[in-house]
Amino acid sequence: GRVEMLLHGTWVRVLDDQWDVNDASVVCRQLQCGEAERAYNLSKPERGTGPVGLRRVQCAGKETRLTLCNTSLPEAVPEGIAEDVGVVCSGSQRVRLVNGAGRCAGRVEIYYKGTWGTICDNSWDLSDATVVCRQLGCGVAMEAPGSAHYGEGSGQIWLDEVNCSGGEAALWDCPAEAWGQHDCRHKEDAGVVCSEFTALRLEKSDGCSGCPQVFYNGTWGSVCSNSMTADTMSLVCKQLGCGDEGFPETDLPYGRVSGPTWLDRVQCGKMNSSFWQCPFAPWKLQSCDYQQDETRIICSGSHLYLMDFVMPLMTSEACPPASPLPSC
Ligand SMILES: *[C@@H]1O[C@H](CO)[C@@H](O)[C@H](O)[C@H]1NC(C)=O
Ligand SMILES: *[C@@H]1O[C@H](CO)[C@@H](O)[C@H](O)[C@H]1NC(C)=O
Ligand SMILES: *[C@@H]1O[C@H](CO)[C@@H](O)[C@H](O)[C@H]1NC(C)=O
Ligand SMILES: *[C@@H]1O[C@H](CO)[C@@H](O)[C@H](O)[C@H]1NC(C)=O
Ligand SMILES: *[C@@H]1O[C@H](CO)[C@@H](O)[C@H](O)[C@H]1NC(C)=O
Repeated sequence: GRVEMLLHGTWVRVLDDQWDVNDASVVCRQLQCGEAERAYNLSKPERGTGPVGLRRVQCAGKETRLTLCNTSLPEAVPEGIAEDVGVVCSGSQRVRLVNGAGRCAGRVEIYYKGTWGTICDNSWDLSDATVVCRQLGCGVAMEAPGSAHYGEGSGQIWLDEVNCSGGEAALWDCPAEAWGQHDCRHKEDAGVVCSEFTALRLEKSDGCSGCPQVFYNGTWGSVCSNSMTADTMSLVCKQLGCGDEGFPETDLPYGRVSGPTWLDRVQCGKMNSSFWQCPFAPWKLQSCDYQQDETRIICSGSHLYLMDFVMPLMTSEACPPASPLPSC
């Protein structure tokens, strides 16, 4: 990214119109980010706006800090072309999962040389997925879907024929074709589902009412009603695109819960922007303090809202066991 320096407690810009890879190497060394892969000038929208700290940086390449290079202070240099500078270091390789629910399932993307790209599904399997899940702190791999199961990416396809043993620390430590070398299209993009993959749904067919359920460790389970507050219910509804408010379906008796009850004592606050930020008791297969302890929610965006709320259902159906219904 853009190079900035902390000077007397303020982040300041580094401007140079002759920025090169020798200068960039010093930045990468100082940040312990590996080797410099690219030195670049920033495009206009990427440039900084704050005060300028350094201008005209000339490094031999072996210096340990940028300030040990031959530099000019801004006031010592006449006005002229001076541009914010950027660096890509080799240590900036990253992996992420996109387009799934949560950060632990989705299409695999790797950040390399400053660009996000995908992985081709040729010989993509659970051992490869295992490395990704471990790397992301997402537990163990449960599935390794190919064929753009999580949608087609765009731009670079970085890796093909990935052949991890499963013990590697990072995906790019696994044997594979050289970076960018492949015979693939994006319809072959590889995906991963890890055990820590989580998802949220309301179980009724309209997707905006019913028992809140969460997916964890490969199984849908219930959320206990302990301390189910208005904030929690409205956050569930917002997250599912079901309107801004949620209400308990008080006219129904609590159903007896069967199947796993994953989450207890969920306490969302006004500041939380995602259900997964809410504090809750640790994940446990049977977590409700009381077994008959489950709330149904109806969201203001549900088309059942008026009907159910204004004319409460007369039947008393119990919460069915959690089963794999399509999520919202
Ligand atoms: C940055 O732009 C200057 C011209 O303003 C050019 O001389 C220089 O080579 C460029 N540096 C890089 C790393 O592209
Ligand atoms: C630093 O740069 C200035 C201006 O380019 C040059 O005159 C001077 O010799 C350089 N000093 C060193 C130690 O490289
Ligand atoms: C993958 O690696 C194993 C050894 O770890 C090897 O036996 C196998 O042939 C490799 N597969 C491919 C497609 O390269
Ligand atoms: C998740 O499932 C695996 C195997 O299915 C099991 O060994 C593990 O204990 C489960 N974890 C939790 C937190 O239930
Ligand atoms: C979520 O809300 C709870 C309760 O108000 C608060 O303790 C927690 O810090 C919030 N977390 C985030 C990430 O906003």
